[in-house]
Amino acid sequence: MFSATIDSSLSKPARYAELVEQARALLVDETDRIANAANFSALIFHSLPDLNWAGFYLFDGTELVVGPFQGKPACVRIALGRGVCGTAARTRETQVVRDVHDFPGHIACDAASQSEIVVPLIAGDGTLIGVWDADSPRVARFDDDDRAGMEALCAIFIEHGWTI
Ligand code: SME
Repeated sequence: MFSATIDSSLSKPARYAELVEQARALLVDETDRIANAANFSALIFHSLPDLNWAGFYLFDGTELVVGPFQGKPACVRIALGRGVCGTAARTRETQVVRDVHDFPGHIACDAASQSEIVVPLIAGDGTLIGVWDADSPRVARFDDDDRAGMEALCAIFIEHGWTI
């Protein structure tokens, strides 16, 4: 049984370091990508405060298609270059959006979302896997610590959760 046991008195980087170890333990013995993506989403959604959506958009060779996630049902397909997710996929750079209403072309899937972070997922050979997306009902929820922490988590996902 999984129980979230991250010490809330720790600094944010220290909490992410614990979460990275939990993610590694969750993924390392399983080779099924969908199972790993689903568990990764659930781990993060239930371990971090102030999230209303957390999950994957996977690249099907043409566009991004929603994958395993936690939260309300979301837009299914996003073209490269569109919205925060499509921008992260096209630029291959993490997007930290302080206020989604200020991001031109932001795609509103859940009206509760006020801020967002999207990390591109790039395999070791340079192939685009998709993006990792987390939304918050709080403006300015994500800062540089979250960027570093989410990127570290995504690196673990690519290494142990996706690459067979
Ligand atoms: N807001 C995203 C769309 C996905 S949802 O947040 C789940 C975007 O602009 O790409």
